[in-house]
Amino acid sequence: MPDKVQRVKGVNDILPAEVRQWQALETIIQNVMAGYAYGEIRPPIFEKTDLFARGVGEDTDIVSKEMYTFSDMGGLSLTLRPELTAGVVRSYIQNNLQQVSPVQKLWYEGPMFRQERPQKGRYRQFWQLGAEAIGSPNPEQDVEIIDLFYALLRELGIEKSVTLKINSVGDSESRAAYRSALRDYLMPQLNKLSETSRNRFESNPLRILDSKAPNDREIIKNAPKIRDCLNESSAAHYEEVLAMLDKMVIPYFQDDLLVRGLDYYTHTIFEFTSDALGAQDAICGGGRYNDLVKELGGSDVPAIGWASGIERLLLVVDAIKPLSTDPVLDLFLVVTGSDLRTETPGIIRNWRSAGLSCDADTLRRSMKAQMREANRQGARYVAILGEDEFSQGVVQLKNFESGKQTTVAIEKVAEVIIKDA
Ligand code: HAM
Repeated sequence: MPDKVQRVKGVNDILPAEVRQWQALETIIQNVMAGYAYGEIRPPIFEKTDLFARGVGEDTDIVSKEMYTFSDMGGLSLTLRPELTAGVVRSYIQNNLQQVSPVQKLWYEGPMFRQERPQKGRYRQFWQLGAEAIGSPNPEQDVEIIDLFYALLRELGIEKSVTLKINSVGDSESRAAYRSALRDYLMPQLNKLSETSRNRFESNPLRILDSKAPNDREIIKNAPKIRDCLNESSAAHYEEVLAMLDKMVIPYFQDDLLVRGLDYYTHTIFEFTSDALGAQDAICGGGRYNDLVKELGGSDVPAIGWASGIERLLLVVDAIKPLSTDPVLDLFLVVTGSDLRTETPGIIRNWRSAGLSCDADTLRRSMKAQMREANRQGARYVAILGEDEFSQGVVQLKNFESGKQTTVAIEKVAEVIIKDA
């Protein structure tokens, strides 16, 4: 026997029963996004590698070790998108979206690719839902985008199981001041830090705050806070964001150790985490990236956004308040008598075009097996069609729930079922 081909490590098959859950979530997402006046954007799945190197940052884990990069036939280096902020900004610049409106509010959903060590909630192909508001520098935009994710959590009924952690990394002047304060603090203890943190000391000391190594955490506990190094305008921005969150009664926790693993952030950064998950507890992460549009060749346009891992979001939803997915099949046609097999495709086609979801047997199975199949599919009704019924132009229509059976003209079946819904 030939070997069975297995799927690649760290990727998932999303099977029909799960897809129904995804679709229920997607309906909620679409409604929330429409309510907040965000338009959907669908950028390509791969981009030039350079976009991510420049956009996300050469020193980040994502770019330095997690990207799926390959050369196309022309020798061009391409990368499967590990995230979509850089792609959205590239698209914003290339399509002159600034000219369409001064604030562009965009959302997206799709697969992302990172070569990370797979575990529960961490995959190599995973889906992100994301939103980006490009154009406004003001705190009300920060609060709107946070409130957008919070609204989704509320619609899903899981907002109480999720914590919003927030911090500010300020503008570049504030970050430079903080980098130097942090280096001064860490320098005398450098040899006690983990190797990864020692490597980050020069290139990106803020990421040391993110370290999970127990020794590092001890040292980090007493490190200076970014908050204390913000210059006046950065501090004012942050204060305004927090005051507005208070006003909107969106609970948050100021996390002085929160730094995000991507290089483009400025000012407000945030993460939503959930106790319902294991080690991979972040269901959403985001922040301001006021310099990225300019760095990728556009004009000086500020922006803010977030992205949420859909698999993780659904893990929380499943643990707290599973989405209800209605049975999909209205009607199953059960045929007795082999002469009628040629009639069934036309009959169910008419019911389908009248708006019903219908199915019928194509394996020429016994009536009993057909009834079992109707049951398995959770059909609301079965229509039984034998020679006698066919000659009179009727079916026996049975409501599975009530058990009630009536004789109905074939062309009236859809009408009767729709009226009954
Ligand atoms: P990120 O924190 O790298 O940010 O990813 C956002 C979310 O994607 C995470 O909180 C998590 O829910 C999910 N996620 C990330 N990696 C994986 C994985 N390997 N498996 C499953 N889920 C994962 C970004 O990607 C930024 N682009 C967010 C952003 C948008 N910032 C501004 N705008």
